[in-house]
Amino acid sequence: MEKRAEAEPQQEQAEKKNVIPLLTPYKMGSFNLSHRIVMGPLTRQRSYDNVPKPHAILYYSQRSTKGGFLISEATGVSDTAQGFTHTPGIWTKEQVEAWKPIVDAVHAKGGIFFCQIWHVGRVSNQDFQPNGQAPISSTDKLLTPQYRANGIDLDQFTPPSSSAPLKFLKL
Ligand SMILES: Cc1cc2nc3c(=O)[nH]c(=O)nc-3n(C[C@H](O)[C@H](O)[C@H](O)COP(=O)(O)O)c2cc1C
Repeated sequence: MEKRAEAEPQQEQAEKKNVIPLLTPYKMGSFNLSHRIVMGPLTRQRSYDNVPKPHAILYYSQRSTKGGFLISEATGVSDTAQGFTHTPGIWTKEQVEAWKPIVDAVHAKGGIFFCQIWHVGRVSNQDFQPNGQAPISSTDKLLTPQYRANGIDLDQFTPPSSSAPLKFLKL
């Protein structure tokens, strides 16, 4: 009986069908990813006082793989950046130091970790702002109140200011 042809490697088969398997390498600029499954940015609101907490070491390292790409939860760039409680920041020395063991844990597993930086602009209110000032935005136009995804909590906003200077972290 004729011997069956060796099975084609998965990648070759997939290329013929114009399908890219998730578990194949990808070159992302200067980063060599070993697969295409990415952890997207997910706000957790567990960084009390805007400082990342040690539990995030386990959280991010559990989700790290060799050559895998992770994006951090949205991380504030200044004391005016906040619009949600307990989101992490990266504008003080304390916050930067708190991130270090988290980043080290991801790197120890071979993960590639980007920090997603944000400033929420007018999606904020004066309770989140230093000295109760108006949120800083590119516009003075007030947002109408919006229900959160749970359909219960109603976010209220404060009229923003487009003339206040925006100070960012210095890296
Ligand atoms: C709980 C939760 C938190 C999220 N936090 C962020 C965030 O910090 N930054 C961001 O850009 N997207 C955030 N997202 C959006 C997700 O990264 C993702 O884009 C969204 O869930 C849509 O996923 P999909 O495109 O796979 O459907 C969040 C989503 C959820 C459900």
